[in-house]
Amino acid sequence: MGALRNIMNPFCTFLFLCMLLHVASSMPKTSAKTHYHGFIIQATPVKRLCKTHNTITVNGMYPGPTLEVNNGDTLVVKVVNRARYNVTIHWHGVRQLRTGWADGPEFVTQCPIRPGHSYTYRFTIQGQEGTLWWHAHSSWLRATVYGALIIRPRPGESYPFPKPKHETPLLLGEWWDANPIDVVRQATRTGAAPNVSNAYTINGQPGDLYNCSKKDTIVVTVKTGQTNLLRVINSALNQQLFFKIANHKLTVVGADASYVKPFTTSVLMLGPGQTTDVLITANQPPTKYYIAARAYASAQGAPFDNTTTTAILEYETAPCLAKCTSTKPVMPSLPAFNDTATATAFTKSLRSPRKVEVPKEIDENIFITVGLGLNNCPRGARRRNCQGPNGTRFTASMNNVSFVLPSNFSLLQAHQQHIPGIFTTDFPANPPRKFDYTGNVSRSLWQPARGTKVYRLKYGARVQIVLQGTSIFTAENHPIHLHGYDFYIVAEGFGNFNPKRDTAKFNLVNPPQRNTASVPVGGWTVIRFVADNPGIWLMHCHLDVHITWGLAMAFLVENGVGELQTLEPPPADLPLC
Ligand code: C2O
Repeated sequence: MGALRNIMNPFCTFLFLCMLLHVASSMPKTSAKTHYHGFIIQATPVKRLCKTHNTITVNGMYPGPTLEVNNGDTLVVKVVNRARYNVTIHWHGVRQLRTGWADGPEFVTQCPIRPGHSYTYRFTIQGQEGTLWWHAHSSWLRATVYGALIIRPRPGESYPFPKPKHETPLLLGEWWDANPIDVVRQATRTGAAPNVSNAYTINGQPGDLYNCSKKDTIVVTVKTGQTNLLRVINSALNQQLFFKIANHKLTVVGADASYVKPFTTSVLMLGPGQTTDVLITANQPPTKYYIAARAYASAQGAPFDNTTTTAILEYETAPCLAKCTSTKPVMPSLPAFNDTATATAFTKSLRSPRKVEVPKEIDENIFITVGLGLNNCPRGARRRNCQGPNGTRFTASMNNVSFVLPSNFSLLQAHQQHIPGIFTTDFPANPPRKFDYTGNVSRSLWQPARGTKVYRLKYGARVQIVLQGTSIFTAENHPIHLHGYDFYIVAEGFGNFNPKRDTAKFNLVNPPQRNTASVPVGGWTVIRFVADNPGIWLMHCHLDVHITWGLAMAFLVENGVGELQTLEPPPADLPLC
């Protein structure tokens, strides 16, 4: 009784609670786990389309291993490079709060891991749930070095939708009947556009519409009446894709590891880098249905891989007729390659599930043009190095700067150790010259200047960026990805962004949160975020051919006040150049 009376004493109760709280906060959160993985980058024979290639893989797997974690968990991945190329791994969409050293883009946050060397990536998943992925961020290695990163709610917490019976990641990829590194090297040498891929893949398999692929086609089995979760990832190198399953409706519940307000659709469009989580209920006659993906190709007249990849959705109770014989699965009718209306209708259907905190006051109002260009053949260069249109070389830029990576220090190292001469902080907040971005652009504006320019942001700055596509050479849809952040997409449209007319249409209530925005062909997208993650963060088009040509820039986000707003020190094993 005495003890109880003591606790009842208000002063004592206060002390007792304080002690409890103190003990609780100093105890490690028992629910958060640390996952250790080893990634061995190595050449492995992989046979596709009747031919075997010595393919660069992780642990001999193509695609690589799926990592499964809970929100709040820590990942420790030791990457050992046993291949003959430099490599780095990027954890696409992971915020990397204060851990920029683990982000991965080569020469941006680290020097590449050279052959025979290793590097351990350590980072914690903070406040993200859904589907992300990881991929190489060095040359075109991500063509075969990639895998899924699945983030489930914290233990004891649940999805904001009925728990699905099964979950299946579906990675859409691109396969060259060649070494992808040779493909990009040839393009860099000639100045021409690189060869398009020979197949698309679902979980590494082209599917039975291609030669020599039938017996390895991916099969996803379902039970009548059950609802499953499909985690669709566009891990293709250079192509936006439509995705459809014959006769089945898809309920979209997440994108880029943010939940969305559920809506049903029969078709998805994903740009490279983007993910979409969908629920699918097996409510059709029990047989086989094709899961199919093919190009959304928005650039007029440009060559693209026009093949179709398939997997099979098979009902467990499908009668033997459908299951055992060569009865063809039901094929969905996919949108036309240039069906921009369908692509736009899809991206515009995405909303946050509820009201979100979108920055209203803006400290940094930035306008960035994104698009291709053509450089005249440099003086003294040979014809064979200028095989772009009319004897030019392809290039690409943001605000007329064609991004060049440094080669002897990473940008983050140069920033943190104050090494001069690696980059400049004069990336322009506006295009150096205003023009009719989506109209007939004068040839004098086609040639960007090369540079390693970053844009400096104060910690906590509220940022708005208008991403304006250009029609230089050709207008096309660009999947623009920002490292280290999720942003809100407050509006998108066609033509030139017009602040007077378009600002009124901003959705500042429940815009979708993403890490990759599909900037419409001949149009614009407006994104907003708060610069609360110090470091150097690349923003680029996720079509690898466009990064190769320089369609990138980087933000330098300063440290704030105190440890929690400051970039961590670099790990001891950070690779040097
Ligand atoms: Cu998914 Cu910079 O990349």
